[in-house]
Amino acid sequence: MTERTLWHPVAQSSEVVTAPLPVQLLEQSLVLWRNAEGQVQSFVDRCPHRGARLSLGRVENGSLECPYHGWQFTSGGQCVKVPAVPDFVPPPSQCVKSFEVQEAYGLVWVRLEPSDSQLPVFAAEADSYLRKVNCGHYDVAASAPRIIENFLDMSHFGFVHEGWLGSRDATAIATYQVEKTDMGVIATGCKAVQPQSNLHSTQAAEVEYTYEVTAPYTAVLTKIPEEGTSKQGWREQIGLFICPITPETSRVWFRLAVADFESTDEQLKTFQHTIFVQDQPVLESQLPKALPLDPRAEMHSAADRMSSAYRRFLKSQNITFGVC
Ligand code: FES
Ligand code: CO
Repeated sequence: MTERTLWHPVAQSSEVVTAPLPVQLLEQSLVLWRNAEGQVQSFVDRCPHRGARLSLGRVENGSLECPYHGWQFTSGGQCVKVPAVPDFVPPPSQCVKSFEVQEAYGLVWVRLEPSDSQLPVFAAEADSYLRKVNCGHYDVAASAPRIIENFLDMSHFGFVHEGWLGSRDATAIATYQVEKTDMGVIATGCKAVQPQSNLHSTQAAEVEYTYEVTAPYTAVLTKIPEEGTSKQGWREQIGLFICPITPETSRVWFRLAVADFESTDEQLKTFQHTIFVQDQPVLESQLPKALPLDPRAEMHSAADRMSSAYRRFLKSQNITFGVC
């Protein structure tokens, strides 16, 4: 398996409307567009005629039209029209490379090489009771694995998120459990005292989280409600979905699946935004930008067991993009 055989998020579904949209994935320039049936198509963003950017073109008669000489490419990439030679029927070889696409979690996902890989799991999506809101994108000058690791890390809360997710007076991390799963790794029993754990907090509370890596560049946080609260039995989740753009740059989305029905979408996004922009400058300062998989390359504490498990997982998956 390589990164190219995995599904990656490349855009928010709502961004792909009538105009072609340029995106980047694994150092490849792609163009997304929607055909007459409403299905998203993903092509290499370079016309096979004279190399113009297809994303500068437009969608015409259910095909993507190149901005330069108007060649039209239909779903799957076949050229169906060469305006300078109106009677010409282009052969099957006259096509632009296209990639597999699917939509899920409010995002468009692309796979550069066919394989039997599945979309990363985000279990809360199936709970129709929970409200779903996407936040982002964020363009971050850090590798996707560094961003995942930051999300899995509670021991920065008292410093980076002081007054929000942690405080300098309560920085000790209680022992938590780490296990391998079929998809990745999971940390359970992660506890923290948080001054402002969500939009409605009025006082500090101990929260319990489960952190799960469900694909090399996907992580999911599950909030375990306290015993005896009205939220018992609910499993609110936050998914972190990352598009690896280059080994040192990434595009990030969060998907909230929450039982907060009072706040507006904007309020939910603003809270997530506040937390993430606290992380971003620290994330972008980390060197090397690629995540070191050699355990001797950086120093570790007992609180870092999830991060070490994530690094071992990436190694076991032969991930090479964004790691060193
Ligand atoms: Fe695209 Fe000529 S470069 S039609
Ligand atoms: Co953080």
